[in-house]
Amino acid sequence: MTALAALEQLVVEFRGGGRVLRALDEVSLVIAPGESLGVVGESGSGKSTLARALLGLVAADRGRVLFGGADLATLGGAELRRLRRRMAIIFQNPAASFDPRQTIGDSVGEPLAVHEPALARAARRARVAALLERTGLDPALAARRPHELSGGPCQRAAIARAMIASPQLVVCDEAVSALDVSVQAQIVNLLLELRRENGVALLFISHNLAVVRRLASRVLVLYRGRVVEVAPREALYAAPRHPYTRLLLDSVPSLVPAASQAPRVPPETASPFARDRGCAFVARCPFAIRRCAEVAPPLETVAPGQAVACLRWREGVATRCA
Ligand SMILES: Nc1ncnc2c1ncn2[C@@H]1O[C@H](COP(=O)(O)OP(=O)(O)OP(=O)(O)O)[C@@H](O)[C@H]1O
Ligand SMILES: [Mg+2]
Repeated sequence: MTALAALEQLVVEFRGGGRVLRALDEVSLVIAPGESLGVVGESGSGKSTLARALLGLVAADRGRVLFGGADLATLGGAELRRLRRRMAIIFQNPAASFDPRQTIGDSVGEPLAVHEPALARAARRARVAALLERTGLDPALAARRPHELSGGPCQRAAIARAMIASPQLVVCDEAVSALDVSVQAQIVNLLLELRRENGVALLFISHNLAVVRRLASRVLVLYRGRVVEVAPREALYAAPRHPYTRLLLDSVPSLVPAASQAPRVPPETASPFARDRGCAFVARCPFAIRRCAEVAPPLETVAPGQAVACLRWREGVATRCA
């Protein structure tokens, strides 16, 4: 199957104050048409940068970003705009991504105005109404402004806007994180339904592994800009191979709300600017040996569809420590 989108050895760096911060460090991934890929990792691990790179919103310092086989860096403005129609993004805070002066209807219909300018106003309105209805909203909400909607409905409207131009890839960057748990479940279900109906691929970014588990058939774990593990959902949750994946799984809040939910992952202490020779996780890893500080572990295939970057994966350290 040809890939819908791919990152090849992607490096993205930010410069400031004479320093270089490597937000993505040789990240490779392939998204198949219609698949649902989850990306997890703690704050600052590079998740949003990965999303922005895929959409062509941040440039590669090295490596390539491919969409539909085309290298984004080689495309001209018009080609890039055409390609943009095939992707959309949903953010954590939908109210902030809507123009407060525009009605919901105008905002939701905006991608159509851009990508299908020949479409008559009435036809556009009808498409907006149909999509609002499909996302569980009253079409009469088209006349409202974003601040009049609460979180759940506002995120539904954001999903309607993302879907309206029939994209092939929708990136959800912490799209349910700000919502109440019950609303989160509804939004997740809506995304799953739309994916089934339209065959749209989802890149679902979240620090919440429980949510990712509901949505993603494959999960990629980022740590300080590096892919430390990528695996089919079942393998990742049942038999993680990387100690960081294990720590993330162990700190997933259970369904019992209690003070005991405090994450067990030790806090990040190393500066994101520091680039050690060895494994990025070495300072926090309970299984680190001297070699881990000296040799950067390659991402090795350990099972069908599962790859891990850990010198000690063969010993099963992450799987055993449960
Ligand atoms: N425009 C920018 N300029 C400078 N540094 C940036 C910029 N965007 C991101 N960074 C840095 O790059 C690293 C990765 O950031 P990114 O936003 O991708 O992380 P994230 O995984 O999305 O985090 P969060 O879970 O908090 O959203 C961080 O150290 C961040 O401070
Ligand atoms: Mg982010």
